[in-house]
Amino acid sequence: MTSDFLKYQAQTTPHPLAMEISHAEGCYVYDTNNKAYLDFVAGVSACSLGHRHPKVVNAIKDQLDKYLHVMVYGEYIQEPAVQLAKLLAQHLPESLECTYLVNSGTEAIEGALKLARRATGRSQIISAHHAYHGNTMGSMSVMGYEERKQAFRPLIPDVDFITFNNKEDLNKITPKTAAVILETIQGGAGFVEPYDNYLTKVRTRCDEVGALLILDEIQPGIGRTGKLFGFEHYNCIPDILVTGKGLGGGMPIGAFSASKAMMHTLQNRPKLGHITTFGGHPVIAAAALATVKEIVESDLMPQALEKEQLFRKHLVHPLISEIRGRGLMLAALTPSAEIANEVILKAQNRGLILFWLLFEPKAIRITPPLTITNDEIIKGCKLIIDILDEISS
Ligand SMILES: Cc1ncc(COP(=O)(O)O)c(C=O)c1O
Repeated sequence: MTSDFLKYQAQTTPHPLAMEISHAEGCYVYDTNNKAYLDFVAGVSACSLGHRHPKVVNAIKDQLDKYLHVMVYGEYIQEPAVQLAKLLAQHLPESLECTYLVNSGTEAIEGALKLARRATGRSQIISAHHAYHGNTMGSMSVMGYEERKQAFRPLIPDVDFITFNNKEDLNKITPKTAAVILETIQGGAGFVEPYDNYLTKVRTRCDEVGALLILDEIQPGIGRTGKLFGFEHYNCIPDILVTGKGLGGGMPIGAFSASKAMMHTLQNRPKLGHITTFGGHPVIAAAALATVKEIVESDLMPQALEKEQLFRKHLVHPLISEIRGRGLMLAALTPSAEIANEVILKAQNRGLILFWLLFEPKAIRITPPLTITNDEIIKGCKLIIDILDEISS
């Protein structure tokens, strides 16, 4: 299987982890030797309720017995998609009450960028250095990491960059700007939180010049930071909110939400302003509906903040200089890329899944399922500390 994997399945790195999966349940993934791995990554923040959460699996099975894909997005009334959009609206401000469902995070970003241009009639998009918003051409155009996009130029024009958390840069947002797009917490950059009311200041500047604010919550959204949406921590409501990853509870999804009036612009001049065959797929929407319901009806969100404290308490070591992030979106910073690498690879050998961040090689990603238990946290942290002890001895 390994040689077929390497030969027939397109690879994105010269060194994939190449663990062959047998099954996954709760906070554990099992390889084909039936070795259990405690999951501190959750499919890169996607499996918010762990693996095969019974409520998600039942919702999928119920929907499988009714219908699969029947029509392109937006023509027929398909209850799971309607209920999901309505549930999101019930937990969002009225200005974000209308949601467009798509198939992935990057596709939701594409929709958000198009919506911003269409709604303002302007073209300039301002993004942040070290931002990651996905890998299709539009999303890649707003990626703040030249080394990873140079080979794919020319990308979409009229994109400029500011430095996240830098207030002086805000005057680069002008009446020519259609939208500013930011991650609420920068992910690939190393889980960098906005500080000193940065997002409120961005919001104010956007309002001054009539630009829209797009917040990308594909990673921090849907409970991971202890609130349903990350922006709730920072006193800043975007004009367009983008979600994905954890929204699907392990199924592929993306969504962008805006006001009804703004979304209306996709209906005319031109009509069919954004279309998709599979967006809002009934099985995926059923899984997402069950996921969001469980997150809002349980204690998982307040628990995420308690679990953060447990991680912070048990991840104390001279080789950890800082734990960045919030809730269960955490990054342990080590002195070097080599140390972070060694910890991640050794942990995998010993049955703990850790992972890298895109643009911060010194960081170890810790984004477990929200359902992780305190005992599992303590067990995984002890393993990390043991590995760091070995490295420092
Ligand atoms: C902040 C952010 N935006 C966008 C994306 C792209 O989402 P997807 O991989 O589902 O296209 C990601 C994925 O890592 C992300 O973390």
